Amino acid sequence: MREDPGAPKINYLRLSVTDRCNLRCRYCTYWQDWRKLPSKEILSYEELLRLAAIAGEIGISKVRITGGEPLVRRGLAEFLGKLHQVSGITKVCLTTNGVLLSELAPALYDTGLRHVNVSLDTLQRERYRQITGRDNFAEVLSGLERAASLGFHPLKINCVVLKGINDDEILNLALLARDHPYQVRFIELMPTVSQEWWQRHFLPLPEVRQRLTGLGPLLPATREATAGPARNFRLPGFQGELGFITPMSGHHCRTCNRLRLTADGKLRPCLMQACELDLKKPLRLDLGDGLISYLFKEALELKARRACLPITPSYHPGRSMVSIGG
Ligand code: 5AD
Repeated sequence: MREDPGAPKINYLRLSVTDRCNLRCRYCTYWQDWRKLPSKEILSYEELLRLAAIAGEIGISKVRITGGEPLVRRGLAEFLGKLHQVSGITKVCLTTNGVLLSELAPALYDTGLRHVNVSLDTLQRERYRQITGRDNFAEVLSGLERAASLGFHPLKINCVVLKGINDDEILNLALLARDHPYQVRFIELMPTVSQEWWQRHFLPLPEVRQRLTGLGPLLPATREATAGPARNFRLPGFQGELGFITPMSGHHCRTCNRLRLTADGKLRPCLMQACELDLKKPLRLDLGDGLISYLFKEALELKARRACLPITPSYHPGRSMVSIGG
């Protein structure tokens, strides 16, 4: 029963295909405590396709592939090709850190994939290494260029704003959208690592917007039906757009239209709540699609009631971001 008639339809599923990642981003996960899942716990592509088919039947139309880093999983392009064929799924997207994008972009493009989000929080090589723990800045830039030249569109760049780390680059990052047809999205830091780290580096996006006023008027861009919580803007003279995602300072829960499936087959109605419905067990015990469909509907029901809590600084998702998929 939907208590909030104005809330968007929940039609978007984020599928984490691996908990492995080739970066070690400071804000993502408390890596010292992180243990990778045993391989057998991770859903096979066949299992993922079966779940996607059931999701398609109950009204999910958009699927985003995440990780960990999805491009580190072998056979991803072939899987994406099959995902595009699943009935009901009309939009397939990918979130990547871009490190392997240059190499894999042609195969990904051939699957029909066009929507790609690339995480990039800085335009400085040394700073990139500090944030991500790896020296892969050049690879990400060439991945972006390759993807743009192949015709991926929209190409979105996710920038987590970190006070005292990359907030002096806000303007330069925004200018990427002037010089390229990219949508640059600024994301507020969420407290997924520690409260202390969050407190030190959180910058509310209204402040970010203020620092961009010199660029000209932010003109609201038209929203897609599956757009979710991002607020997008056009600017005079810009090829691309700017976007703002405010999980902390904005009303995130009410506009959230997504479910998440972790790499080990747990369906999460809310990123920041530990509540998970296990789909792997019924899948592997072969208890039938009816039960899985019922569990999907349960998750929709939980979400429709907006039984989520707002994210507060002391909040934690109950497991690492790398295994939930952001
Ligand atoms: N706060 C905000 N965004 C985060 N992401 C990962 N961890 C956090 C966090 N603590 C983002 C990454 C990536 C997406 C998958 O999730 O930047 O763009």
